[in-house]
Amino acid sequence: MTTMTVPERYGESVLSPNWHAELERLIAMAEVADRTTTRTLHELGLRPDWQCLEVGAGAGTVATWLAGQVPDGSVLATDIDTRWLEPAAAPNLRVSKHDIVLDPLPVSTFDLIHARFVLEHLPERDTVIAKLCRSLRPGGLLVIESIASFPIASCATPAFRDAMHAIESTLAATIGTDAAWPRAFPAPLQQHGLAQVSASVHIPATGGRNASARCWSHTLTQLRPRIAEHTPQALPAVDEALRLLDLPDFFDLAFATAICWGRNIKTQ
Ligand SMILES: C[S@@+](CC[C@H](N)C(=O)[O-])C[C@H]1O[C@@H](n2cnc3c(N)ncnc32)[C@H](O)[C@@H]1O
Repeated sequence: MTTMTVPERYGESVLSPNWHAELERLIAMAEVADRTTTRTLHELGLRPDWQCLEVGAGAGTVATWLAGQVPDGSVLATDIDTRWLEPAAAPNLRVSKHDIVLDPLPVSTFDLIHARFVLEHLPERDTVIAKLCRSLRPGGLLVIESIASFPIASCATPAFRDAMHAIESTLAATIGTDAAWPRAFPAPLQQHGLAQVSASVHIPATGGRNASARCWSHTLTQLRPRIAEHTPQALPAVDEALRLLDLPDFFDLAFATAICWGRNIKTQ
């Protein structure tokens, strides 16, 4: 499989942690997604002594929750930018600055590896999955979550649909995000030899000034200058979508969250 070359990397300019409201964006994202994440991980079964890796941990909400679920184990929370990760949040939580594309990972180490809203933004996602699989212990579980663009085509509001498409195409052109990739879940895990694979999809309503509306409003605001470069014809839709997202009675469906998981059944 070839890896596409892109002009820049996540966080260098696009989706930069230096953007003034990036923490609020990540907190809103967590408010939208954490309930589904924690329910899914709980249903898949967590053991108190597990060694866990949280990749691209962002504001750290999942890593902190996980640490509470594995009191006799540990959680390693990694990110290219760890400014919002608080190691003191739990005694068994460690934080490490780590690039999942460039930096090595120990092999056969983790009982659970979880990455949410990270791999879709990395053109090297296939080699990253291979690296994550090698880092699983025998019996270990890999859980990947990704935004998925397939609900956008049927959005009920044309301006909102066009603004969401502008996010998708601008992220693809700048950092190589592929929001269509998770439509094939769980195939990427099957292809890497994981067993007991499956997937599910969650589509939260965006609107009523809820966390999803705030998150997409922040994302549109941050990306607006880059959308202006790549698809200037979408700017009227972007501005209309920003107005809609601030209304108490606007609702539509934005990107879905697709989740897939699989288990390493190799004996070593
Ligand atoms: C959209 S945020 C998601 C944050 C968190 N996982 C969540 O769902 O709330 C993506 C995160 O991945 C991190 N990230 C991006 N590229 C990365 C890489 N190559 N290695 C590790 N983390 C990366 C970003 O810094 C950011 O914190």
